[in-house]
Amino acid sequence: MIAAYSATSQARVNAALEILFKAPLPELSRLYEAMHYSVMIGGKRVRPLLAYAACEALGGKAEQANGAACAVELIHAYSLVHDDLPAMDDDDLRRGQPTTHKKFDEACAILAGDGLQSLAFSALLDPRLSDLDADIRLQQVTALAHAAGPAGMVGGQAIDLGSVGLKLDQQALEQMHRHKTGALIEVSVKLGALASGHAEQDELKALQTYAQAIGLAFQVQDDILDVESDTETLGKRQGADIARDKPTYPALLGLDAAKVYALELRDQALHALRPFDAAAEPLRDLARYIVERRN
Ligand code: IPE
Ligand code: IPE
Ligand code: MG
Ligand code: MG
Ligand code: MG
Repeated sequence: MIAAYSATSQARVNAALEILFKAPLPELSRLYEAMHYSVMIGGKRVRPLLAYAACEALGGKAEQANGAACAVELIHAYSLVHDDLPAMDDDDLRRGQPTTHKKFDEACAILAGDGLQSLAFSALLDPRLSDLDADIRLQQVTALAHAAGPAGMVGGQAIDLGSVGLKLDQQALEQMHRHKTGALIEVSVKLGALASGHAEQDELKALQTYAQAIGLAFQVQDDILDVESDTETLGKRQGADIARDKPTYPALLGLDAAKVYALELRDQALHALRPFDAAAEPLRDLARYIVERRN
């Protein structure tokens, strides 16, 4: 089920993303090539899947969430390009390919990340991607700006970099994860729900509880995979957190307790979806997938 849903949704978001990468001038072809490379070399597309699944859970058509799906993947791709830079995690491999600064150069990677961030907001407003009322688009832009920015993902990255070599307690680690990874996952669900055109407050609240649980679970599982997966499966260097003395859940709790915690978070997420009918099945599958995934 999740495999079929993923394949359909990945094809849908990839087709929508391709629309956005036409260089307006020949002089910009390298920048556009670097942006295109960063987004299209691979990736599981978890955030777009969540946007589509949330839209469908509320009775919308998946296509209505095309702008949202592109926007969250573009923010995610930009965050990875910058995360991999020498000044940050200094990684050479991403999605099984050289990182953007290795394939191009550092300045180009910084600009590609900047460009992808702006493109994300254009995607939310692009009538070629989705046909939504202006008030819905306004709510989406407001939510994405908050989640991606200094009070969200960027803030989480700042906490992450400021914590290298430190021993965070569980509360501080959770705060870091909720910002650096949770915020974008949470807003992916919200943007998709808003795209349905009929999101009620109580539904948005339940979906937020779901999304906060899986957002944290996603980064806990990412930390677990850094310990026990391998570079080829991951498409990024296994053991990078340990090598850099990053604060992670396995480092704090031990591997087994980190796994138990990820499953608890999955159960919290599933619990939050109880009021929803069968249309929320893809969201339920995604909660299970997030803690079972191997890459
Ligand atoms: C990796 O995200 C970075 C984190 C926020 C943990 P993903 O595991 O979603 O990466 P891709 O998009 O599939 O490459
Ligand atoms: C990345 O966290 C979070 C963001 C890019 C916002 P990580 O540094 O753990 O991601 P990976 O492990 O490099 O994919
Ligand atoms: Mg990082
Ligand atoms: Mg990293
Ligand atoms: Mg990681």
